[in-house]
Amino acid sequence: MLKGKVALVTGAGRGIGREIALLMARCGAKVVVNDYGGSESGADASSEVAEAVVTEIEAAGGQAVANADSVASMAGGERIVKTAIDAFGRIDVVVNNAGILRDRMIFNMTEAEWDGVIDTHLKGSFAVTRAAAPRMREQKSGRFINMTSTSGLVGNVGQANYAAAKLGIVGLTRATALDMARYNVTANCISPFAWTRMIGTIPTETPAQKARVEKIKKMSPAHIAPLAAWLASDDAKDVTGQVFGVRGKEIMVFGAMRPIQRIHHADGWTPERISDMFAGTLQHHLVPLETSGQYFNYDPLV
Ligand SMILES: NC(=O)c1ccc[n+]([C@@H]2O[C@H](COP(=O)([O-])OP(=O)(O)OC[C@H]3O[C@@H](n4cnc5c(N)ncnc54)[C@H](O)[C@@H]3O)[C@@H](O)[C@H]2O)c1
Repeated sequence: MLKGKVALVTGAGRGIGREIALLMARCGAKVVVNDYGGSESGADASSEVAEAVVTEIEAAGGQAVANADSVASMAGGERIVKTAIDAFGRIDVVVNNAGILRDRMIFNMTEAEWDGVIDTHLKGSFAVTRAAAPRMREQKSGRFINMTSTSGLVGNVGQANYAAAKLGIVGLTRATALDMARYNVTANCISPFAWTRMIGTIPTETPAQKARVEKIKKMSPAHIAPLAAWLASDDAKDVTGQVFGVRGKEIMVFGAMRPIQRIHHADGWTPERISDMFAGTLQHHLVPLETSGQYFNYDPLV
């Protein structure tokens, strides 16, 4: 399905990115495997994990090249895209997947924890997108596939930095889809659920946190790859600006933020009039404040 295409997957040394890189290569794409390697905390960067995935792809008869730059700077984004151009002469698919977690309650979160997560997810997705978009605009084709999360779409405790970054990525994706529509370039989000090293860093102090992580442990990152490969294909040319979810054997599409109820007052609103009217009108339509684990509390593997 991806024969002749050049695909770049960030954070592809492990987890979901690795499965997407392996499947895209099996589907015929030439793949740039980006990962800065290193530990969960971001220390000890190394090209080893990216190179190991390249070796795996080559052993299966595919073509791939490694890149160990961090996505979290404009220069890094440019070098990652240049790796694709230098090795394969073009760039058709970008999967913005690299990610880290720095969980902390909002009242304790540090500036470094905020910046680290925003820089990796949100700025990192922008940096690689910004480097690839002019090339796709010129060739009048391309695909962006960006990873969001139900931590932002629904909610999670202790993840203000991550939730903000992941909803920021939804905005980035929709804006990219609009800006690039006339050049036959699509941009979509996937909200995955899978047991990976990153999920292993989620604190499991409360019974609710423990239960959520136990459920995720059963879901493989390999479940996510088919949707990413399909979105990258010519078959998905008319699908853009959307947010999908993959949870085990389940694929879902999310609704966008739209008004779900309106009230109007002929004389205009005062705080007192809102107080009089709210309970009988908008109150009935409020979105419950709940976590992703509470919302998705069934087993999707059966
Ligand atoms: N696993 C899940 O259930 C889940 C849920 C929601 C969203 N996601 C998203 O899916 C994506 C993949 O996560 P995963 O679960 O496979 O995690 P993972 O930790 O297994 O893989 C992430 C990879 O990104 C790499 N990376 C981190 N920062 C980088 C940087 N600055 N530059 C280059 N590489 C970098 C890491 O080295 C790692 O190999 C992330 O964007 C994550 O937010 C995952």
